Amino acid sequence: MTKTIIVTGGAGFIGSNFIFYMIDKHPDYRFICLDKLTYAGNLSTLTPIMDKPNFRFVKADICDRTAVFNLFEEEKPDVVVNFAAESHVDRSIENPGVFLETNIMGTAVMMDACRKYGIERYHQVSTDEVYGDLPIDKPELLFTEMTPIHTSSPYSASKASADLLVLAYHRTFGVPITISRCSNNYGPYQFPEKLIPLMIANALNDKSLPVYGEGLNVRDWLYVDDHCKAIDLIIHNGRVGEVYNIGGHNEMRNIDIVKLICGALGKPESLITYVTDRKGHDMRYAIDPTKIHNELGWLPETNFADGIKLTIDWYVNNRPWWQEIISGDYQYYYERMYGNR
Ligand code: NAD
Ligand code: TYD
Repeated sequence: MTKTIIVTGGAGFIGSNFIFYMIDKHPDYRFICLDKLTYAGNLSTLTPIMDKPNFRFVKADICDRTAVFNLFEEEKPDVVVNFAAESHVDRSIENPGVFLETNIMGTAVMMDACRKYGIERYHQVSTDEVYGDLPIDKPELLFTEMTPIHTSSPYSASKASADLLVLAYHRTFGVPITISRCSNNYGPYQFPEKLIPLMIANALNDKSLPVYGEGLNVRDWLYVDDHCKAIDLIIHNGRVGEVYNIGGHNEMRNIDIVKLICGALGKPESLITYVTDRKGHDMRYAIDPTKIHNELGWLPETNFADGIKLTIDWYVNNRPWWQEIISGDYQYYYERMYGNR
C-alpha cells in the first residue's frame, strides 16, 4: 500500500541518505522533505531527486507550528520520520540554546501535529549519546535499551529530552511512536565538521588533523545506509512505543581512524596535531543491537573496511560538494573552534 512520508531534516547527512534509500526501495511512496536549511542543510544534495513526481521539498522550521500544521493539513502524512536536529556536540558546547529550541521544542511541535492530525507512525531518530559513555577498560559493557539515560553534552541532553517527550506523548495521548538510538554514522554527504569528513577534507588539503586529547576515545561506527535500512524496518515492522538501538559492533579509537585516513590518502601522519580535549568528552560508545536483530532481523551489511573506502572515495570524487561548504561561513566556525586550540 502506498504511503505519504514526511522526512524532517532530509537535506542533512542521514536524512538525505534515507530519502535516497527509501525513494529507490519504495517508488510508490510519496516523500516530503521538510527542512529549515540551516548551515548543515544542503539543497544541492537533493538535486538528483528534486524533479521526481513523488518528491516534494518544503523549506520550513520544525519549531514553526503554523508551517508544520499547514503541511500536515495539506499532505495528511501516514508516517513522519524526524531527523531534523542540531547535531554537533562541539556547537552545543559553544551555544546550547538553539539545540534546546530545535531538538526539544521542534520535536514538541511535531508531536502536537501528529496528535492533532492522526498518524500511522511517528519515528524519532535519536542517538546512543543519550546513554552517556562507557569505560574503556570494561569492553564487555554495551548500551542496551534498558541502559539509563545519563547525558553529557547539551546536545545529548536535548536529544534525551526529546525522547522522553515522545514517550510521554505515546503514553498520555496514544501517539503511535517508535524511537531509534544509533551509534556514530559515516558515509557520503556528512558535513565536514564531524570527525571522518573533517579529517578527509583536511588531509586532502594538506591541513593539520586536529585530534582531541590523546585520540583514545572510542566510537562505534556504522555505515549510513545500514542506519537507513534499520529505520525502514522499524517504521514498517517495529512495535509501537518501543526503542531500538542500532549499531554494528564496530568500535574504533579516533586516532586509529585518523591514521587510517592518512594511509588511504597517502598523506603523512605528521599532519596529526593533538589539540585541547573537548569539554565533558564522552570516552566510549558501544551499542548492543540484539533487540533489533532478534525482532526485525536487522544486521549491518557494510563492514568498516568497505564503508570507509566508499566514504573516502566519495569525498575524493565530490570535491565541489564539500569545497563549497568549507569556503563559506565554515571558515569562521573553524577559526573559532580550532584557531587557538
Ligand atoms: P545534520 O546536522 O547533517 O542534518 C540536520 C538537518 O536538519 C539539516 O538538513 C538541517 O538543515 C535540518 N534542521 C536543523 N534544524 C532544523 C529545524 N529547526 N527545522 C527543520 N530542519 C532543521 O544531522 P545528521 O548527522 O544527518 O543527523 C540526523 C539525525 O540523526 C539527528 O537527529 C541526530 O541527532 C541523529 N543521529 C546522528 C548520528 C550521526 O552520527 N550523525 C548518529 C545517531 C543519531
Ligand atoms: P564527532 O564526529 O563530533 O561525533 P560525536 O562527538 O558525536 O561522537 O566526533 C567523533 C569523535 O572524534 C569524538 O570523540 C571527538 C573526536 N574529534 C576529534 O578528535 N577531532 C575533531 O576535529 C572532531 C570534529 C572530533
